[in-house]
Amino acid sequence: MNESRRPILAGNWKMHHTHLDAIQVVQKLSYQLPVEVYDEVDVVVCPTFTALRSVQTTLDADRIPILLGAQDVHWEEEGAFTGEVSPVMLQKLNVSYVIVGHSERRELFGETDEAVNKKVKAVLAHAMTPIMCVGETLDEREAGGTEAKVSRQVREGLAGLKAEDVAGLVIAYEPIWAIGTGKTATSADANETIGQIRTVVRDEFGKATGDAVRIQYGGSVKPGNIAELMGEEEIDGALVGGASLNPDDFARIVRYRA
Ligand code: PGA
Repeated sequence: MNESRRPILAGNWKMHHTHLDAIQVVQKLSYQLPVEVYDEVDVVVCPTFTALRSVQTTLDADRIPILLGAQDVHWEEEGAFTGEVSPVMLQKLNVSYVIVGHSERRELFGETDEAVNKKVKAVLAHAMTPIMCVGETLDEREAGGTEAKVSRQVREGLAGLKAEDVAGLVIAYEPIWAIGTGKTATSADANETIGQIRTVVRDEFGKATGDAVRIQYGGSVKPGNIAELMGEEEIDGALVGGASLNPDDFARIVRYRA
């Protein structure tokens, strides 16, 4: 990481934890995080939609400075979109961050760069921060196509945005072959691709924007590899799936400096 950018450690709980479990997990997580941690890093949990309200009231009642994130959003404010959740609804729950374009949404549910772009804009329009995910498949990597794929996803996902908005958002580089597989990109490889992403942002939105945007790594991040990843200049944080489900593990990841 670079000292000029504030680290962000986010847990993506995916389709795990009922709202009852979620309350316990967030409480246990908070017990293990000394207050000074929040001065140094942004700590975010992204529960399922059904657990957002419970986690929000727990954080509020216990005055826990963990930030709330959602895993997806629709771009419209309301309407006949059965099964979807609007940015207005998330904003009312004090959601700060919204994951957009996770590879599971792209690969399993057909989400396009165009849809990702609409969602990013909707999140920003409602004063929340997108965590926009990009990443290549194993085939794409082996064919030497990593840079082309992530560059396209970044350009199309951020198309039409103002530089000041881009400077404040978060991009998560998650190689698809590393997600949930136990295989992590080497920290050097992750650093290199994240550097390429930063170059795309500089080219499209100017140097200051590229210098400011925070870019996380995601894919089998664990207590045992977070410190090395965070030691890399370009890596500003992590989007953590499996290891964030367990409050002990996620607390160790958040306290990677300790
Ligand atoms: P993982 O998931 O940490 O379980 O690999 C990361 C993610 O999909 O965000």
